[in-house]
Amino acid sequence: MSYSIVYSSRTGNTANLAQTIREALPAEDCIYFGEPDPKALEAETIYLGFWTDKGSCDEASAEFLKSLTGQRLFLFGTAGFGGAPAYFEQILDRVKSKMGSGVTVVGSYMCQGRMPMSVRERYMQMEESPRRTAMLKNFDAALNHPDAEDLTRLKAALLPNG
Ligand SMILES: Cc1cc2nc3c(=O)[nH]c(=O)nc-3n(C[C@H](O)[C@H](O)[C@H](O)COP(=O)(O)O)c2cc1C
Repeated sequence: MSYSIVYSSRTGNTANLAQTIREALPAEDCIYFGEPDPKALEAETIYLGFWTDKGSCDEASAEFLKSLTGQRLFLFGTAGFGGAPAYFEQILDRVKSKMGSGVTVVGSYMCQGRMPMSVRERYMQMEESPRRTAMLKNFDAALNHPDAEDLTRLKAALLPNG
């Protein structure tokens, strides 16, 4: 079955997931790999990767989602905040609400992704509070992600034949 891998990534985390998917699926069935582009729409299955921006997918992914017309969709993404599966579910629900009609979601996967050091510096400027402590803890936990285990779990979540 033909497929495309489309992704948006500012700092490389989601690109890492996209590359892992590329290596796991049969190369001969791949018709497009790269940033959102109408060329990707010709595939039967689209693997769409996003980075989390304000609790939903980034703008480029949202635009691309709107252009889908009836493909099978596998969503994957990274978010700075991890730890609670319910948080990922909430993001995925928001992302799904942006897609074109007739699209069938055939799977999804999310994991935590490291954030730029400037974010930590911003937290450090904040007055001490339990919230600040929790945010710093989350930031430091995110530094290792996506890790090898995240990528193994992603591969396990994929469809066998694209
Ligand atoms: C402007 C901006 C907004 C963000 N908003 C969120 C957010 O609402 N929730 C979250 O969990 N992570 C948020 N993040 C963190 C990124 O989603 C996370 O680091 C992601 O792994 C980046 O993926 P990329 O390396 O593929 O660009 C934000 C990052 C930036 C730069």
